[in-house]
Amino acid sequence: MEIIIKQNATEGSHAAARVVARLIREKPDAVLGLATGSTPLILYNELIRMHRKEGLDFSRVTTFNLDEYVGLPADHEQSYHHFMRENLFRHINIRPENVHIPDGMAEDIPACCAKYEQAITGAGGIGLQVLGIGSDGHVGFNEPTSSFASRTRIKTLTRQTVADNARFFDGDESKVPHHCLTMGIGTIMDARINLLLAFGEDKAEAVAATVEGPVASVMPASILQHHPAAKIFLDEAAAAKLKLSDYYRWVYDNKPDWQQDA
Ligand code: PGA
Repeated sequence: MEIIIKQNATEGSHAAARVVARLIREKPDAVLGLATGSTPLILYNELIRMHRKEGLDFSRVTTFNLDEYVGLPADHEQSYHHFMRENLFRHINIRPENVHIPDGMAEDIPACCAKYEQAITGAGGIGLQVLGIGSDGHVGFNEPTSSFASRTRIKTLTRQTVADNARFFDGDESKVPHHCLTMGIGTIMDARINLLLAFGEDKAEAVAATVEGPVASVMPASILQHHPAAKIFLDEAAAAKLKLSDYYRWVYDNKPDWQQDA
Protein backbone atom coordinates (compact mmCIF):
# COMPACT_ATOMS: atom_id res chain seq x y z
CA MET A 1 0.00 0.00 0.00
CA GLU A 2 1.11 3.52 -0.69
CA ILE A 3 -0.27 6.01 1.83
CA ILE A 4 -0.46 9.59 0.55
CA ILE A 5 -1.36 12.16 3.18
CA LYS A 6 -2.26 15.60 1.88
CA GLN A 7 -3.28 18.64 3.84
CA ASN A 8 -6.89 18.62 2.73
CA ALA A 9 -9.42 16.84 0.53
CA THR A 10 -8.75 19.12 -2.43
CA GLU A 11 -5.03 18.35 -2.51
CA GLY A 12 -5.67 14.64 -1.99
CA SER A 13 -8.28 14.55 -4.74
CA HIS A 14 -6.09 16.47 -7.17
CA ALA A 15 -3.22 14.06 -6.56
CA ALA A 16 -5.57 11.15 -7.29
CA ALA A 17 -6.87 12.93 -10.41
CA ARG A 18 -3.31 13.18 -11.73
CA VAL A 19 -2.97 9.39 -11.48
CA VAL A 20 -6.25 8.89 -13.36
CA ALA A 21 -5.29 11.44 -16.02
CA ARG A 22 -1.86 9.92 -16.52
CA LEU A 23 -3.43 6.51 -17.16
CA ILE A 24 -5.89 7.96 -19.69
CA ARG A 25 -3.09 9.81 -21.50
CA GLU A 26 -0.93 6.69 -21.63
CA LYS A 27 -3.83 4.41 -22.50
CA PRO A 28 -6.67 6.33 -24.18
CA ASP A 29 -8.93 3.25 -24.11
CA ALA A 30 -8.44 2.79 -20.35
CA VAL A 31 -11.13 1.00 -18.34
CA LEU A 32 -11.98 2.88 -15.16
CA GLY A 33 -13.92 1.66 -12.15
CA LEU A 34 -15.81 4.55 -10.57
CA ALA A 35 -17.37 5.30 -7.20
CA THR A 36 -20.16 7.55 -5.95
CA GLY A 37 -20.74 9.31 -2.62
CA SER A 38 -19.35 12.62 -1.46
CA THR A 39 -15.72 11.48 -1.49
CA PRO A 40 -14.96 11.42 -5.24
CA LEU A 41 -16.70 14.73 -6.06
CA ILE A 42 -13.56 16.88 -6.03
CA LEU A 43 -11.72 14.24 -8.07
CA TYR A 44 -14.50 14.30 -10.68
CA ASN A 45 -14.48 18.11 -10.74
CA GLU A 46 -10.76 18.04 -11.40
CA LEU A 47 -11.17 15.51 -14.22
CA ILE A 48 -13.85 17.75 -15.74
CA ARG A 49 -11.45 20.71 -15.49
CA MET A 50 -8.69 18.67 -17.13
CA HIS A 51 -11.09 17.70 -19.90
CA ARG A 52 -12.08 21.33 -20.53
CA LYS A 53 -8.75 23.05 -20.05
CA GLU A 54 -6.17 20.39 -20.86
CA GLY A 55 -7.95 18.31 -23.46
CA LEU A 56 -8.18 15.16 -21.34
CA ASP A 57 -10.01 12.89 -23.75
CA PHE A 58 -12.58 10.36 -22.54
CA SER A 59 -13.84 9.41 -26.00
CA ARG A 60 -12.32 5.94 -25.84
CA VAL A 61 -12.56 5.42 -22.08
CA THR A 62 -14.88 2.76 -20.67
CA THR A 63 -16.27 2.93 -17.13
CA PHE A 64 -17.85 0.52 -14.69
CA ASN A 65 -19.43 1.84 -11.52
CA LEU A 66 -19.11 -0.03 -8.27
CA ASP A 67 -22.70 -0.15 -7.20
CA GLU A 68 -26.33 0.97 -7.38
CA TYR A 69 -29.33 0.89 -5.08
CA VAL A 70 -31.95 -1.76 -5.76
CA GLY A 71 -35.32 -0.28 -6.62
CA LEU A 72 -34.28 3.23 -7.66
CA PRO A 73 -34.88 3.99 -11.33
CA ALA A 74 -32.03 5.61 -13.27
CA ASP A 75 -33.76 9.00 -13.21
CA HIS A 76 -34.25 8.98 -9.41
CA GLU A 77 -32.30 11.87 -7.90
CA GLN A 78 -30.45 9.57 -5.50
CA SER A 79 -29.72 6.78 -7.96
CA TYR A 80 -26.08 6.36 -8.81
CA HIS A 81 -27.01 6.57 -12.50
CA HIS A 82 -28.22 10.10 -11.80
CA PHE A 83 -25.22 10.91 -9.61
CA MET A 84 -22.73 9.90 -12.28
CA ARG A 85 -24.56 11.70 -15.06
CA GLU A 86 -24.76 14.95 -13.08
CA ASN A 87 -21.33 14.88 -11.46
CA LEU A 88 -19.18 13.56 -14.28
CA PHE A 89 -20.55 12.04 -17.45
CA ARG A 90 -22.53 14.98 -18.83
CA HIS A 91 -19.48 17.21 -18.46
CA ILE A 92 -16.99 15.07 -20.38
CA ASN A 93 -16.87 13.45 -23.82
CA ILE A 94 -17.49 9.87 -22.72
CA ARG A 95 -19.67 7.77 -25.00
CA PRO A 96 -22.91 6.63 -23.32
CA GLU A 97 -22.39 3.11 -24.66
CA ASN A 98 -19.06 2.92 -22.79
CA VAL A 99 -20.67 3.67 -19.42
CA HIS A 100 -21.74 0.77 -17.20
CA ILE A 101 -23.62 0.93 -13.90
CA PRO A 102 -25.39 -2.04 -12.28
CA ASP A 103 -29.12 -1.99 -13.01
CA GLY A 104 -30.92 -1.70 -9.68
CA MET A 105 -34.25 -2.19 -11.45
CA ALA A 106 -33.28 -5.53 -13.05
CA GLU A 107 -35.96 -8.21 -12.82
CA ASP A 108 -33.43 -11.02 -12.82
CA ILE A 109 -30.80 -9.78 -10.40
CA PRO A 110 -28.42 -12.77 -10.48
CA ALA A 111 -28.41 -12.71 -14.31
CA CYS A 112 -27.84 -8.95 -14.32
CA CYS A 113 -24.88 -9.34 -11.92
CA ALA A 114 -23.35 -12.17 -13.95
CA LYS A 115 -23.67 -10.06 -17.09
CA TYR A 116 -21.95 -7.16 -15.35
CA GLU A 117 -18.99 -9.36 -14.46
CA GLN A 118 -18.84 -10.63 -18.05
CA ALA A 119 -18.88 -7.08 -19.38
CA ILE A 120 -15.91 -6.18 -17.15
CA THR A 121 -13.98 -9.21 -18.33
CA GLY A 122 -14.99 -8.52 -21.94
CA ALA A 123 -13.61 -4.99 -21.67
CA GLY A 124 -10.24 -6.42 -20.63
CA GLY A 125 -10.68 -5.90 -16.89
CA ILE A 126 -10.57 -2.70 -14.86
CA GLY A 127 -7.31 -0.80 -15.21
CA LEU A 128 -7.90 1.64 -12.36
CA GLN A 129 -10.58 1.52 -9.70
CA VAL A 130 -11.60 4.56 -7.63
CA LEU A 131 -12.86 3.70 -4.14
CA GLY A 132 -14.31 5.52 -1.18
CA ILE A 133 -14.60 3.85 2.20
CA GLY A 134 -17.61 3.64 4.49
CA SER A 135 -17.27 4.49 8.16
CA ASP A 136 -17.75 0.74 8.72
CA GLY A 137 -14.92 -0.08 6.31
CA HIS A 138 -17.01 -1.05 3.32
CA VAL A 139 -15.71 -0.63 -0.23
CA GLY A 140 -18.35 -0.47 -2.91
CA PHE A 141 -21.26 -1.73 -0.83
CA ASN A 142 -19.31 -4.73 0.42
CA GLU A 143 -20.33 -4.49 4.03
CA PRO A 144 -18.39 -6.09 6.92
CA THR A 145 -17.98 -9.87 6.56
CA SER A 146 -18.41 -9.74 2.78
CA SER A 147 -16.43 -12.55 1.23
CA PHE A 148 -13.05 -11.55 -0.13
CA ALA A 149 -13.89 -13.79 -3.10
CA SER A 150 -17.23 -12.10 -3.83
CA ARG A 151 -18.28 -10.92 -7.27
CA THR A 152 -21.06 -8.55 -8.33
CA ARG A 153 -24.21 -9.44 -6.39
CA ILE A 154 -27.06 -8.13 -4.24
CA LYS A 155 -26.21 -7.04 -0.71
CA THR A 156 -28.14 -5.72 2.27
CA LEU A 157 -26.84 -2.42 3.64
CA THR A 158 -25.89 -2.24 7.30
CA ARG A 159 -27.92 0.04 9.54
CA GLN A 160 -24.78 2.19 9.82
CA THR A 161 -24.68 2.68 6.05
CA VAL A 162 -28.41 3.41 5.92
CA ALA A 163 -27.88 6.03 8.65
CA ASP A 164 -24.77 7.47 6.92
CA ASN A 165 -26.59 7.79 3.59
CA ALA A 166 -29.83 9.21 5.00
CA ARG A 167 -28.28 12.67 4.48
CA PHE A 168 -28.86 12.21 0.75
CA PHE A 169 -32.53 11.27 1.37
CA ASP A 170 -33.72 14.37 3.29
CA GLY A 171 -32.21 12.87 6.45
CA ASP A 172 -34.96 10.25 6.40
CA GLU A 173 -33.58 6.74 6.96
CA SER A 174 -36.87 5.18 5.88
CA LYS A 175 -36.28 6.49 2.34
CA VAL A 176 -32.87 4.81 1.98
CA PRO A 177 -33.09 1.52 0.05
CA HIS A 178 -31.94 -1.45 2.10
CA HIS A 179 -30.50 -3.38 -0.83
CA CYS A 180 -27.94 -2.68 -3.48
CA LEU A 181 -26.03 -4.31 -6.28
CA THR A 182 -22.30 -4.06 -5.83
CA MET A 183 -19.14 -5.32 -7.44
CA GLY A 184 -17.61 -7.88 -5.14
CA ILE A 185 -14.34 -7.65 -3.31
CA GLY A 186 -12.94 -10.20 -5.75
CA THR A 187 -13.98 -7.87 -8.58
CA ILE A 188 -12.27 -4.90 -6.92
CA MET A 189 -9.11 -6.89 -6.22
CA ASP A 190 -8.86 -7.76 -9.93
CA ALA A 191 -8.43 -4.06 -10.83
CA ARG A 192 -4.81 -3.40 -11.79
CA ILE A 193 -4.63 -0.22 -9.69
CA ASN A 194 -6.87 0.70 -6.76
CA LEU A 195 -7.11 4.30 -5.56
CA LEU A 196 -8.90 4.63 -2.24
CA LEU A 197 -9.80 8.15 -1.14
CA ALA A 198 -10.86 9.02 2.40
CA PHE A 199 -11.35 12.48 3.86
CA GLY A 200 -12.55 13.77 7.20
CA GLU A 201 -12.40 12.58 10.78
CA ASP A 202 -15.39 10.24 10.37
CA LYS A 203 -13.16 7.98 8.27
CA ALA A 204 -10.11 8.00 10.56
CA GLU A 205 -11.04 4.85 12.45
CA ALA A 206 -11.80 2.81 9.33
CA VAL A 207 -8.64 4.08 7.62
CA ALA A 208 -6.42 3.07 10.55
CA ALA A 209 -8.02 -0.38 10.68
CA THR A 210 -7.68 -0.77 6.91
CA VAL A 211 -4.03 0.25 6.70
CA GLU A 212 -2.60 -0.94 10.01
CA GLY A 213 -5.07 -3.50 11.31
CA PRO A 214 -5.34 -7.18 10.49
CA VAL A 215 -6.70 -8.24 7.12
CA ALA A 216 -10.19 -9.36 8.02
CA SER A 217 -13.53 -9.43 6.25
CA VAL A 218 -15.04 -7.54 9.15
CA MET A 219 -13.05 -4.58 7.78
CA PRO A 220 -13.53 -5.14 4.04
CA ALA A 221 -11.10 -2.45 2.82
CA SER A 222 -8.27 -4.17 4.71
CA ILE A 223 -7.99 -6.65 1.85
CA LEU A 224 -6.23 -3.89 -0.07
CA GLN A 225 -3.15 -4.80 1.97
CA HIS A 226 -2.98 -7.75 -0.42
CA HIS A 227 -3.38 -5.66 -3.56
CA PRO A 228 -0.16 -5.09 -5.51
CA ALA A 229 -0.97 -1.48 -6.45
CA ALA A 230 -3.21 0.21 -3.89
CA LYS A 231 -2.78 3.93 -3.30
CA ILE A 232 -4.58 5.46 -0.32
CA PHE A 233 -5.20 9.23 -0.58
CA LEU A 234 -5.99 10.88 2.76
CA ASP A 235 -6.37 14.31 4.27
CA GLU A 236 -4.92 15.07 7.69
CA ALA A 237 -8.20 14.32 9.47
CA ALA A 238 -8.64 10.89 7.90
CA ALA A 239 -4.99 10.09 8.63
CA ALA A 240 -5.19 11.20 12.26
CA LYS A 241 -5.37 7.69 13.76
CA LEU A 242 -2.53 6.14 11.78
CA LYS A 243 0.39 5.10 13.97
CA LEU A 244 3.00 5.27 11.21
CA SER A 245 1.91 8.49 9.51
CA ASP A 246 5.37 10.05 9.89
CA TYR A 247 6.81 7.10 8.01
CA TYR A 248 4.24 7.41 5.19
CA ARG A 249 5.07 11.10 4.82
CA TRP A 250 8.79 10.31 4.81
CA VAL A 251 8.32 7.69 2.08
CA TYR A 252 6.27 10.09 -0.04
CA ASP A 253 8.70 12.97 0.41
CA ASN A 254 11.61 10.73 -0.57
CA LYS A 255 10.05 9.17 -3.63
CA PRO A 256 12.75 8.68 -6.23
CA ASP A 257 12.34 10.89 -9.32
CA TRP A 258 11.74 7.91 -11.56
CA GLN A 259 8.61 7.06 -9.60
CA GLN A 260 6.09 9.40 -11.11
CA ASP A 261 4.35 11.88 -8.86
CA ALA A 262 0.99 10.74 -7.53
P1 PGA B 1 -18.95 8.91 1.16
O1 PGA B 1 -19.25 7.35 1.12
O2 PGA B 1 -18.00 9.18 0.07
O3 PGA B 1 -20.28 9.56 0.90
O4 PGA B 1 -18.40 9.20 2.51
C1 PGA B 1 -18.18 6.48 0.93
C2 PGA B 1 -18.71 5.06 0.91
O5 PGA B 1 -19.75 4.79 1.53
O6 PGA B 1 -18.07 4.21 0.27
